[in-house]
Amino acid sequence: MILIKLGGSIITNKAKPLSPRIGAINKISNQIKKISEPVILVHGGGSFGHYWSVKYNMHTKPDKYSPRGVSIVKNSMIQLDKIILDSLIKSKLNPYCLPPTDFMSGNRPITKKVKEIAKIAQAGLIPVSYGDALWYGAKKSYILSGDKIMSILAKILRPRLSIFVLNVDGLYSDFKTKKLIHEMDGDQVSIEDIPMDVTGGMRRKVEEATRISKMGLEVFFVNGNKPERITSAAKGKFEGTRFRGA
Ligand code: IPE
Repeated sequence: MILIKLGGSIITNKAKPLSPRIGAINKISNQIKKISEPVILVHGGGSFGHYWSVKYNMHTKPDKYSPRGVSIVKNSMIQLDKIILDSLIKSKLNPYCLPPTDFMSGNRPITKKVKEIAKIAQAGLIPVSYGDALWYGAKKSYILSGDKIMSILAKILRPRLSIFVLNVDGLYSDFKTKKLIHEMDGDQVSIEDIPMDVTGGMRRKVEEATRISKMGLEVFFVNGNKPERITSAAKGKFEGTRFRGA
């Protein structure tokens, strides 16, 4: 089984509010079509969910955020999710829409529900989940990032490979010269030097990828603008940054 996260920067134009990158999404769908083993998809918020969570000052920390903000973020994520689902359907794939409320209670995964996701994927459907604004309890809510969903699912389902699809070639040891790290072993770059946004940006991705690789699982960062690299990675040919399962 392969777990794939489509980053908000590849499926949307982050510089422009509410703008999907339909061309990039369709190309990625066509590549996913070529993978011949069960796939689970997760996507980020980009210029949909991120845009609104910034506007309403909502973060990953549970707090009493504006109810309006919760509604608007959720609504925008459904809008973006629909675009992804339509693209997958058009590529003759069988997506199975799975909002995180289906397998999360507060900020904890419901193990039985998560295990069911694997069964759904093995039955020829592609479970599709996404980062979202979630109810926490006691009038609090929080932003659950798609990256966090990746490590939640990886921990319980132990996929053969977890792929983070980005808008860049992978993780750079130097953001100015764009020197790519092919194999990440934790020493090449210090986590504080990696830029972040509301849900953590690249820093969160590296943190979650490191967490997953420490579970003994393979993680890979790949450039979604070269979508054939997704299928190559599935075949064991890596062009990007690899976090070896330790
Ligand atoms: C963001 O999820 C979810 C919301 C802000 C609602 P991610 O943090 O995974 O999104 P990207 O991939 O960085 O855009």
